[in-house]
Amino acid sequence: MKFIAFDVRDDEKPYFQAWAKQNKIEVTLDSGVLDERTLKKTTGYDAVLALQTRSYPEGMFEFFKKQGIKVLSIRNVGVDNLDLTAAKASQIPVTNVPAYSPNAIAEFSVTQLLQLLRQTTIFRQKIAAHDFRWAPFIGEELRSKTVGVIGTGRIGKAAIKIYQGFGARVIAYDLYPDPKLKSQGIYVPTLAALLQQADVITLHLPATAQDCYLLDEKAFSQMKQGVYIINTARGILIESKALLAALKNHRVAGAALDTYENENSIFNHDLRAQPFNDPILAELLVQPNVLITPHIAFYTKTAVENMVLIALNSAKAVCQQGKSDNLVTK
Ligand code: COI
Repeated sequence: MKFIAFDVRDDEKPYFQAWAKQNKIEVTLDSGVLDERTLKKTTGYDAVLALQTRSYPEGMFEFFKKQGIKVLSIRNVGVDNLDLTAAKASQIPVTNVPAYSPNAIAEFSVTQLLQLLRQTTIFRQKIAAHDFRWAPFIGEELRSKTVGVIGTGRIGKAAIKIYQGFGARVIAYDLYPDPKLKSQGIYVPTLAALLQQADVITLHLPATAQDCYLLDEKAFSQMKQGVYIINTARGILIESKALLAALKNHRVAGAALDTYENENSIFNHDLRAQPFNDPILAELLVQPNVLITPHIAFYTKTAVENMVLIALNSAKAVCQQGKSDNLVTK
């Protein structure tokens, strides 16, 4: 059995190598992405492992079928960049890693909110200029806030627990409410109700076609004055132009964006010598009340180890037994 993994970073390599040795399976590690140019590198392998937020190449599953590739195992959770209809049509099973560390993402979301509430960016800038005064940048406390959680899957649940630990009032909205959370009485009946009541809105839902621009101009107009927005889910959930306008008219007091709608050619790239052409992102980046991070909420040692090992075990299970608990093409 032979596997090939794409987009492999140095921090993932030890986990791949240890697993390959232990399982006596050859795993080729490639640092490039899986795209039209690199697709042919998969010839001769039984399983392909990948991790990327950009689209996968067109015709990939038909190609896999012709090559006898048995499975595509992605090392992340989101499947929004995959054509699962094409996967099913070509009968190529796809696995994901549904829970590599919900806490990694939940903790990061809370970290970013706390930074916004205490205006740490402004203090960092002031201190760098040797201005050590306090006023007028007085902070706010999380326990005085109503936090609106949109999406109550594994990550949303982990976030709710942390927010409740801080003493915040938590309300939630999900098309598919969780029975246990429902018994806590935290769900509001509609998205509009959450938008109207929340002091903080944090997104923990996958990107589906129906949720594209979930937070658009209309949604921002329904929110409380001075709301904070946290997005560690998917960029496409927020209409960035509308967010920028809402920041400018002070409807939104601050935003933390770990994902951005046009992030693929920017995030996790070294653009120090190569300016990017995205005027909205450029404007967001210079706002003192906006925290932009390059899709790093997941990026912890625990999560990375789990992403690699769970994806490898899923690929092996499909190759050997034709099934895996992590199939997304059931
Ligand atoms: C995911 O797991 O879907 C993420 O957003 C993490 C990213 C590295 C692709």
